[in-house]
Amino acid sequence: MIVNESVTGYLASLAHDIPPALEKLRVKARQEHVPIIRDDMLEFIRFVLLKEKPKTILEIGTAVGFSALFMHSVVPEAQITTVEKVEMRLKEARKNLDGSGITLIEGDALEVLGGLKGPYDFIFLDAAKGQYSSFFSDCRRLLAPGGLILTDNVLLEGTIAESRFGIERRDRTIHERMREFLHELTHTEGLVTVIVPVGDGAALTYKQ
Ligand SMILES: C[S@@+](CC[C@H](N)C(=O)[O-])C[C@H]1O[C@@H](n2cnc3c(N)ncnc32)[C@H](O)[C@@H]1O
Repeated sequence: MIVNESVTGYLASLAHDIPPALEKLRVKARQEHVPIIRDDMLEFIRFVLLKEKPKTILEIGTAVGFSALFMHSVVPEAQITTVEKVEMRLKEARKNLDGSGITLIEGDALEVLGGLKGPYDFIFLDAAKGQYSSFFSDCRRLLAPGGLILTDNVLLEGTIAESRFGIERRDRTIHERMREFLHELTHTEGLVTVIVPVGDGAALTYKQ
């Protein structure tokens, strides 16, 4: 947790309800340890979507479809495409997304993204953290001018601020890759990025 528990708890008390079917899915996903979006991040996305009213949305990392269905509940008129590669998750996602109008692409985003044309007004990047840099050139190409990319989990539970030597050996690669990725996001001409300590850290990037 990046922000202390009492602040997070207080902010949760201000959060909006979600539709009952989504609430059921949230409870089930948590019980089954599916890594779905955190509540404070939901509020953040809700704000951005209501403000931006994207017509097209691409999500990388469906899991069981919770965040895709949440985005659909906020902007039902948007066309949402979501990508997932793990069969165990896909099995649930197919059921949950059935009839929603959301397009589920089954496959590794590393291969799938190259075949997409876009443009997308809003891209939610919420997949393997170590691969964010590899997804990014396609995300940039697929993003409409003026569009937004929201990348989740960029602060790695706060460990992003540690020096390499303060990080467990097994987590060093992901730590190094995330730092490189955040540097790229904040130092690439034509992109404007703000990093905020919401959820597990979110980077919001705007293409000029
Ligand atoms: C944090 S979960 C997504 C949670 C979901 N966005 C939500 O909040 O409901 C990340 C998902 O990304 C998927 N994933 C990781 N790397 C991927 C890749 N290269 N291509 C497609 N899916 C990937 C994982 O299988 C996992 O289900």
